[in-house]
Amino acid sequence: MKIQGDLKQRKTVMALEKRFTQFVESPTVSGTGEATDATVPRGLPKIETRTMSFFYGTKQALHDINLQIQDRSVTALIGPSGCGKSTYLRSLNRMNDIIEGTRVTGEVLLDGEDIYASEVDVVSLRKRVGMVFQKSTPFPKSIFDNIAFGPRIAGLTKKTELQHIVERCLKQAAIWNEVKDRLKESAMALSGGQQQRLCIARALATNPEVLLMDEPASALDPASTARIEDLIFELKQNYTIVIVTHNMQQAARISEKTAFFCMGRLVEIGRTKQIFTNPIQKETEDYITGRFG
Ligand SMILES: Nc1ncnc2c1ncn2[C@@H]1O[C@H](COP(=O)(O)OP(=O)(O)OP(=O)(O)O)[C@@H](O)[C@H]1O
Ligand SMILES: [Mg+2]
Repeated sequence: MKIQGDLKQRKTVMALEKRFTQFVESPTVSGTGEATDATVPRGLPKIETRTMSFFYGTKQALHDINLQIQDRSVTALIGPSGCGKSTYLRSLNRMNDIIEGTRVTGEVLLDGEDIYASEVDVVSLRKRVGMVFQKSTPFPKSIFDNIAFGPRIAGLTKKTELQHIVERCLKQAAIWNEVKDRLKESAMALSGGQQQRLCIARALATNPEVLLMDEPASALDPASTARIEDLIFELKQNYTIVIVTHNMQQAARISEKTAFFCMGRLVEIGRTKQIFTNPIQKETEDYITGRFG
């Protein structure tokens, strides 16, 4: 009986390992390869949530989430639709505050400080913790003005400094070569993939420490998706990135850690390879093998 059970377990592990290899070797995108353990820096977490719960009015969307996110790494949040990924992501820079009737309990720490403490200035917080949404959201302004927007709000007026920031951010977001001769043109004239990279550049303009990305490539074609993934891989040298994705190949390729959410609960978090090849919880295994969700 025991031998049969072991055999069954071994088969499942082999199937999951095969699936992981398929995830990271998808031919549709150039990919950057699996992030390795060596790329995960040690030390205090950049972000930590402790028994964090979230409520939309009386409806509880998140239950006691305990999660640590390491500095300068990529953490992927996966899970079925409606499980609370976006709610969790938005709670990390208090973006949910703008929805009336919402409430957070527990703690959300950035460098060990509670971001929901009464003395925290939300505008400064959102400068430190930038966000990129699923649907690109350029302002109906020129490419230059889109990037200069944040620094201008922060009080920067000197043209040469603004020019410097715009160039740096567009280069960091790997779009400079495509737009450098048309900075005065409307950002709305860019393609979807270019608009998304422009939004990443705009998020970088306030010098954030953390970038939250909610399905940043879900509306893009494979080539644009690959560019965004390459970009994320570059950016994690300097930024802490938390990304929500429904694309498990993407999670496998770009993240060091993966957190699986289900029905408002964190089911498990672990090294991405472990989550995809040897998950502890059955729910995680069912999800990644496509049995539900
Ligand atoms: N503004 C809102 N008001 C009330 N309930 C909301 C609001 N936004 C989300 N919810 C509810 O909170 C739960 C979590 O939603 P959330 O958008 O965080 O899920 P998700 O995991 O991001 O899903 P998806 O993969 O479809 O984007 C869902 O039950 C959703 O209906
Ligand atoms: Mg969502």
